[in-house]
Amino acid sequence: MLKNSRSSYGSVAKWLHWLIALWVLAAYLIILYLKSQSDAFPLPGLNIHKVVGFSILVPVLFRLYWRATNIQPALPDHMPRWQRRASGLSHGFLYFFLIAMPVTGYLGNGGGVDYGAFRIPPFLGSPVSAWIYDTVGISDSQWDTFFDTLHYGIMGPWLFWMLIAVHAGAAIWHHHVQKDDVFKRMLPGRNKK
Ligand code: HEM
Repeated sequence: MLKNSRSSYGSVAKWLHWLIALWVLAAYLIILYLKSQSDAFPLPGLNIHKVVGFSILVPVLFRLYWRATNIQPALPDHMPRWQRRASGLSHGFLYFFLIAMPVTGYLGNGGGVDYGAFRIPPFLGSPVSAWIYDTVGISDSQWDTFFDTLHYGIMGPWLFWMLIAVHAGAAIWHHHVQKDDVFKRMLPGRNKK
């Protein structure tokens, strides 16, 4: 079953979920490895992190489209209202970070993203960025610092990780404490109708 049903996710949503999870992990492992090897800026090999991190937008945008055009499996009846709200809120934040991480990384970096066969030019230094600096009344270094602070000062090492931990913790709690099928229905395999 490709599409979601009222009781389970379809295979497209499941594979997108685990693919994106591994993709995020890869972006993290690459940058952590590079930082463990050198303190230079920019880090040697940084482009690998940028290519992996920027490309995540493709499955993330497709997943948002798939979510918008599919029904969502219902949450178990035993869940109180605050948990339903918390679940909706945390999923909203996860999507926000899945877009904000690549976007802030790109906006704060002057090197662009080099795919070998083609290159995405940097936003920093572009005519649009010059227009924004003029309109808002900031310098390019203030812009750079703002997005760098968001990307690798606040969101990357703290907020995004904490959110992922809450998300994974909730899945484990559903599986082991509530013993419902909230976690199981996201695992690849056969679906209930
Ligand atoms: C899902 C996507 C991404 C994730 C999860 C991610 C995560 C991170 C993390 C955790 C750090 C290091 C934080 C630390 O210093 O401990 C980092 C640094 C960095 N990222 Fe990303 N990133 C992503 C996408 C991107 C993209 C698309 C670009 C640029 C096009 C980018 C450019 C950078 C740069 C320039 C650094 C600083 C490296 C240094 O310290 O030399 N990132 N990122």
